[in-house]
Amino acid sequence: MATQKKRKKKNSPLPLATVAVFGAAALVTLIVYDHTPRSESMTVGENSAAVSELPAQTTVTTEGTAMLTTDTTTELTTTVTEATQPLPPGSVTDISLTFYSCALKVGGNRVMPIVTMTPETAPDKSEKWESSDPAVATVDGIGWITPVGAGKCTVKVTSVNNPAVFAEVVVSVTDPNAPVAASTVPIGGTAPAETAAPAESTPSGSSTTVNGRLEVKDGITYIDGIMIVNKTYSLPASYDPGALTPDADQAFAMLQKAAKIDGLTMNCVSGYRSYQAQDTLYHNYIARDGQAAADRFSARPGHSEHQTGLCLDVNYAGDAFHDTPEAKWLEENSWKYGFIIRYPKGKEDITGFKYESWHIRYVGTDYAKLIYESGLCLEEYFGIESKYAE
Ligand code: DAL
Ligand code: ZN
Repeated sequence: MATQKKRKKKNSPLPLATVAVFGAAALVTLIVYDHTPRSESMTVGENSAAVSELPAQTTVTTEGTAMLTTDTTTELTTTVTEATQPLPPGSVTDISLTFYSCALKVGGNRVMPIVTMTPETAPDKSEKWESSDPAVATVDGIGWITPVGAGKCTVKVTSVNNPAVFAEVVVSVTDPNAPVAASTVPIGGTAPAETAAPAESTPSGSSTTVNGRLEVKDGITYIDGIMIVNKTYSLPASYDPGALTPDADQAFAMLQKAAKIDGLTMNCVSGYRSYQAQDTLYHNYIARDGQAAADRFSARPGHSEHQTGLCLDVNYAGDAFHDTPEAKWLEENSWKYGFIIRYPKGKEDITGFKYESWHIRYVGTDYAKLIYESGLCLEEYFGIESKYAE
């Protein structure tokens, strides 16, 4: 008969821990979360196909970060089962999650931790989700956690195959309308309002009326908190998030999971790129295709969204991706996870870049929905231009 012990570890968001449970004895292991590439170095130019930004060689690094918030007590809850009987072959022995705590706001976005059950070969990896207090947060059958009311609760996922194995997420929910200050969870790519300075200047080449509050902070332009990078608006060479931002990374993990349920595989083939990497890439394309052609599909250094850590290329960065089921799925569904197709078909004169069905940009679920439903590209939505000064 199995007995269970709970171990709680406070203020230890990383590395993500998981507990492996074996039939004969309990064994605690640490597993660093590893679900998707976030940072690449690359060489370019070898591929002679008509591709836009296909790195010929990609080196992937991963990190263990998976925290959603900065203002909540972190509780890492793991469960150890001490079994005295061997488990049947193929039983699930372990569950790990991409995060173990989150802070949400009433009326705000829902979140979904990604579950990994081991062994990989386990035939039944079905999940059972439950909330300790649906008045605080509900959870659906695939793990979407929705904030309902102020308070704290636990959301638990249990292996249907082996109910002794489970993992929990501590959920803190605040109500922005309550007198007590709500938690501030910046959306990836947004500038916290309290630190954003008023616009210092309008970048050269911009003559439009901006639909939103334009701010420039540390040389970076934001409109309504959304980081703007295109041919008009650039990033300083020193801006270096080093990887996809945690928000973008988490959102892509959710997208991957949803696509997988629909039978499609979505891989990041190019995420964050440094100013220097973009410089190399761009100049290799100039050497291959000439500057006029390169400027239609490759951004000059400082002008690539890849430097933001908020965008990524899915599966194949070339025209052959356009007519794939994956491209159609991204077109129809990526907004649900906070992404937009950044360079839509037929908008080259406005975005400054050819159609890229594979390039998705994280703007958060609120703006992604608004932009998707508007049918506009980012430049049209905010009323801005995308043109190099010279
Ligand atoms: N292919 C996009 C425009 C970039 O180079 O960032
Ligand atoms: Zn791209």
